[in-house]
Amino acid sequence: MTERIQKLLAAAGLCSRRTAEEWIAAGRVTVNGRRSRVGDKADPETDDIRVDGRPLRGAAQHVYLMLHKPRGYVTTLSDERGRPTAASLVRGCGARVYPVGRLDLDTEGLLLITNDGDLAHRLLSPKKHVDKVYYARCRGTVREGAAEEFARGIRLPDGLLCLPAELTVLSYDRIQDESEIRLRIREGKFHQVKRMMEAVGCPVLFLKRLSMGPLVLDENLKPGEYRPLTDTEREWLEQL
Ligand code: URA
Repeated sequence: MTERIQKLLAAAGLCSRRTAEEWIAAGRVTVNGRRSRVGDKADPETDDIRVDGRPLRGAAQHVYLMLHKPRGYVTTLSDERGRPTAASLVRGCGARVYPVGRLDLDTEGLLLITNDGDLAHRLLSPKKHVDKVYYARCRGTVREGAAEEFARGIRLPDGLLCLPAELTVLSYDRIQDESEIRLRIREGKFHQVKRMMEAVGCPVLFLKRLSMGPLVLDENLKPGEYRPLTDTEREWLEQL
């Protein structure tokens, strides 16, 4: 069956569709020896599709892993300062996989790791507004009305207008002067949770991602551990 070439490259786990389009436009992709153009279709069963001269061998197996990212790990694939990468924790999985989206060095929690570029693209698309839920411990007490401000969509001091978010104050420890909160956001701007909490005067001391869309962090996973997604979890993601 013929499919658009960018979709085939993403389905083979090589890259996202957008990146595939860039590769095609840059002339890196050939079909039966001819340079392909963005929008061309091909049949992975019968056509010889190559990227940089290397054949795309059928639709590679997709791998979907749930990692409990520990603090102290970067979510980029390499780090110029030599800090450990989250991807290195799943090196034994037998596929070239990468994290979907970013978590800060000092954030822990749910990180989806896959070679399904198409899914990564859907999950991260700003148009999709996939929910992310975080638990945080913050300095100070959350001021009255903060939840309502978040629900309307706050403007950060640097001018960024956040989409409506759901803030729940879980507890306040008077002795430590620390609050525990849960925050559900629908976007993933740089340091978003930290910036939002800072804006209401409660700097984040500890941050953990609990869920992303339908995926919920498996609390049986200790920081640094991972497991493949279950069939049900994969089906949920397919529906996004
Ligand atoms: N928001 C942050 O501030 N940091 C993260 O790592 C994720 C969301």
